[in-house]
Amino acid sequence: MILRLQGCFSSFLLSFLFLLYPLAFSQPSAYQIATMTKLSQLFNSSAVGWDVTKQSNPCSWKGVTCSAGSLITELSLSGFGLSSSEFLSVVCNISSLQSLDASENQLSSIPSEFFTYCGKIGGLKLLNFSRNGLKGPLVSFIGFVELEFLDLSYNFLGGNISLLLDELVSLKSLNVSGNLFGGSIPSNLGKSKALEQLVLSVNSFTGEIPEEIADYGNLTLIDLSVNHLSGSIPSRIGELAKLKVLILSQNNLNGGIPTNLSSISTLSRFAAKQNNFSGPIPSDLTKHLKNLDLSYNKLTGSIPEDLLSSANLQTLDLSYNSLEGSIPDKISPRMVRLRLGSNALNGSIPSLNFAALENLTYLELDSNRLTGTIPPQLGDCQNLALLNLAQNKLNGSLPAQLGNLSGLQVMKLQLNDLGGEIPVEFSQLKTLSQLNISWNSLTGSIPSSFSNLQQLRNLNLQGNHLSGSIPDSIGNMNSLIELQLGENQLSGPILKLPEKLQIGLNLSSNLFEGPIPDSLSSLTVLEVLDLSHNNFSGEIPEFFTQMQSLVQLILSYNQLSGIVPKFSFHVSVNLSGNLSLRNGTEPNASLEKERRQSRIPVAVVILMAVAAGVYAAGLITVMCSFFLRIIRSIRKE
Ligand SMILES: *[C@@H]1O[C@H](CO)[C@@H](O)[C@H](O)[C@H]1NC(C)=O
Ligand SMILES: *[C@@H]1O[C@H](CO)[C@@H](O)[C@H](O)[C@H]1NC(C)=O
Ligand SMILES: *[C@@H]1O[C@H](CO)[C@@H](O)[C@H](O)[C@H]1NC(C)=O
Ligand SMILES: *[C@@H]1O[C@H](CO)[C@@H](O)[C@H](O)[C@H]1NC(C)=O
Ligand SMILES: *[C@@H]1O[C@H](CO)[C@@H](O)[C@H](O)[C@H]1NC(C)=O
Repeated sequence: MILRLQGCFSSFLLSFLFLLYPLAFSQPSAYQIATMTKLSQLFNSSAVGWDVTKQSNPCSWKGVTCSAGSLITELSLSGFGLSSSEFLSVVCNISSLQSLDASENQLSSIPSEFFTYCGKIGGLKLLNFSRNGLKGPLVSFIGFVELEFLDLSYNFLGGNISLLLDELVSLKSLNVSGNLFGGSIPSNLGKSKALEQLVLSVNSFTGEIPEEIADYGNLTLIDLSVNHLSGSIPSRIGELAKLKVLILSQNNLNGGIPTNLSSISTLSRFAAKQNNFSGPIPSDLTKHLKNLDLSYNKLTGSIPEDLLSSANLQTLDLSYNSLEGSIPDKISPRMVRLRLGSNALNGSIPSLNFAALENLTYLELDSNRLTGTIPPQLGDCQNLALLNLAQNKLNGSLPAQLGNLSGLQVMKLQLNDLGGEIPVEFSQLKTLSQLNISWNSLTGSIPSSFSNLQQLRNLNLQGNHLSGSIPDSIGNMNSLIELQLGENQLSGPILKLPEKLQIGLNLSSNLFEGPIPDSLSSLTVLEVLDLSHNNFSGEIPEFFTQMQSLVQLILSYNQLSGIVPKFSFHVSVNLSGNLSLRNGTEPNASLEKERRQSRIPVAVVILMAVAAGVYAAGLITVMCSFFLRIIRSIRKE
C-alpha cells in the first residue's frame, strides 16, 4: 500500500516537473523573440516595462501569456498608454496569437496591414479595442475565421455594421456599444449563426428590430438600449430559446409587450424602460424573470395577479405608466426592489406577511391613488431601506411598528391624509437620513426623543397640525441640514437649534411670537431662513448680517419694528407685511464704508474665480467635442 502510494506520488511529481519544464526552461522561437523585441521598442518602455536585456524570455513580460510549448498566445496591453497604432502591423507576425487586448489606450486608428495580416492568423479568437479613440467607418474584416470575441465598444466609430457581421463566421460576441454607428440593425448577423452576444447599445441605430434576429438561436444576450429604434418587438422573439438578457431601454419602440417572452425559460432579465410600449402587461411575463423594468412607458390595465409573486423575481419596476386596479397581494420572497410609483393604482396596500419578505429593500408605491391605512405589518420588513408611499390618499395614523425598521434610511409619506400623532417609536430609526411626512393631518407635538435620530439629514413636517414647542433636544441632531416646519401650530421659545442646518430652516405660518430667538445666531452655515407669517415682534437682530452663508431671509408678515440692519447685496431679504420697519438713516458714506469692509471673504472670491475657470474650460471641451462630431459626421456624408 505504502509502496503504491509512493509510486503514485513520484509519478505525480514527474508529470508535474514535466509540465513545468517548458515554462521554466524553454523560450519562444527566435522569430517570436525578435518580434517581441521590436514591439518593446515601439512601446514606451518606462510605462510598459518590456526590456529584453533585463528579461530575455518575453513569456515573463507583463501582459504576455505563452502556451506550454512557449508560443505566445495572449497579449493583454490594456491601459499600456498606447497612442501609436504602429505596433498593430507588427503584432500580426505572432502567428500563434489567440487573444489581443488593446483596450483602454489612446489608439485613433487600426492600420490596414492589421486587417490583412492578422486576418490570416487562424487561431485568433479575441480582439479587444474597447475604450480607445478609434474613428471613422470600419474597414471590413477579411479572414479572422476563428474570431469569437470582438469588442469595439466606447470609440468614435461610425457607419453601419452589416459587412462586419457577414465576414466573421465564428463570431460569438460582438460589442460595439458607445460609438456613432447608425443605419438599421442588419438582419444578417453572420452566416454561421454562431452569435451569442449582441451589444449595440448607445449608438444611433434606427429602424425596426429585424424579425430575422429570431433565426439566431444561440443568442443569450441582446442589448439594443439607447438608440433610435422604432416599431414593435418582433413576436418571433419568443423563439430565442437560449436568451438570458434582453435590453431594449431608451428607444422609440411601441406596441405591446409580446406574450411569448414568458416562454423563454432561460430569460432572467428584461429591460424596456423609456419607450412607448402600450397595452396590458402579459400575465405570466415574470414566470422565469429575475429582473423586469418596464418603467416610463404607456402600459395600461391592471397588474396581473401573478406578476409580483413569481418565485425568482428580485426587481420589478413598473413606475411611470398608466396602470390601474389594485396591487396584487402576493409578492415573491426574493423581491429586493419593487417600484410601482406614478401610476393610477387604487385600493389599499395589501397587508402581506411582510416578515417573509426578507430581501425587500426598496418599496416605492408613491404617486398613485392608494387608500386605506398603512399596514402595521410593514414594520416586520426587516431589510427595508427605502419606503415611499408619498402622494396617495392614505389615511389613519402612522403605525408605531414602522419604528422597528432598523435599517430604514428614507421614509416618504408626504401628501396623504395621515392623522394622529407622530409615534415616539420613530425615534428608534437610527439609520434614518430622510423623513418627509409633510402635507398630512398630523397632530400632537414633535417627540423630544427625535434627537436620537443622529443620521437624519432632512426632516420635513410642514403642512400638518403639529402644536407645542420645538423640543430643545432637537439642537442635538448633529446631521440635520434641513428642517421644514412651516404651516403648523407650533409656538413657544426656541432655545437650541441644530448647528449644521444648511439647506433651510422654515418656521413660517406657525404661532411663534416675541423677539426673534437668539438661538438662530448659531446657524453659521444656514442658507435659507423663513420665519414669515408668525407673530415675531421687536427689532430685526443685527446677528443676521453676520450669518455668512445666508442667501435668503424671509421675515414677512410678522410684527417686527425698528431699524432694518444693512444686509450684504447677495442676501435676498423679504420684509413685507411688518408693522413699522424703517430703513437705516445713515448717510451714504457709512453705507459705502460698510460695503468696503465687505462681506465676501477673499477665499470665497478665489474659489468663485476658480470655479468660473473650471466651468469655462469644461464648456470649451464640451463645445469642441460637439463641433468635432459635427465635422466628422459632415465628412462622412
Ligand atoms: C512614458 O511613460 C512615462 C510614465 O508613464 C511618462 O511619464 C512619459 O511621459 C511617457 N513618454 C512618452 C513619450 O509617452
Ligand atoms: C475588453 O476590455 C474591457 C476593458 O478592459 C473589458 O471591460 C471587456 O470585458 C473586454 N472585452 C472582452 C470581450 O473581453
Ligand atoms: C418632502 O415633500 C415635499 C412635498 O412633496 C417636497 O416638496 C420636498 O422636496 C420633500 N423633501 C424631501 C427632503 O424629500
Ligand atoms: C416655507 O414653508 C412654506 C409652507 O409651509 C412654504 O410656502 C414656503 O415657500 C417655504 N419657504 C421657503 C423659502 O421655501
Ligand atoms: C428700504 O429701502 C429699500 C431700498 O431703497 C426699499 O426698497 C424699501 O422699500 C425700504 N423699506 C422701508 C421699510 O422703508
